[in-house]
Amino acid sequence: MNKTKKINFIEFTNADKVGVASIDNQHKSMVETVNKIYNSLLLSKESSALNYLKKFLELVKAHFQTEEKLMRETNFPGFYSHKLEHDRFYKQILNYTDRFHKEFQPIGKEQLEGIRKWFFNHLEISDKKCGKFLHEKGFS
Ligand SMILES: [Fe+2]
Ligand SMILES: [Fe+2]
Repeated sequence: MNKTKKINFIEFTNADKVGVASIDNQHKSMVETVNKIYNSLLLSKESSALNYLKKFLELVKAHFQTEEKLMRETNFPGFYSHKLEHDRFYKQILNYTDRFHKEFQPIGKEQLEGIRKWFFNHLEISDKKCGKFLHEKGFS
């Protein structure tokens, strides 16, 4: 068996695009980074998993700022509930990062599954609604 084979823990397909390039590209990078965390853990490379988790935290932060800026600029009606979902998720990832970094408790498969679940729920319900609205406002 080829031990270096990479497994896609999360698959990002065209069906997952919201139609606004900046958002889609960030989602794609986030997914790729979660896959790197997963693969690092599979190979027991904990320090690399931690580095990717830190990178993921930064990507999440920048991504939420991007979406929130676009929503504010266009007076998106669902802004507050959308932002609340972002804030909760960010806190969760910050918590996983702190536990890994400061208390040496690596992120586990269950938590990665939680991230995957959150990502697709949020994407399907909130981000697509937001993407559609932005698209109507001329963003692509
Ligand atoms: Fe969002
Ligand atoms: Fe998003």
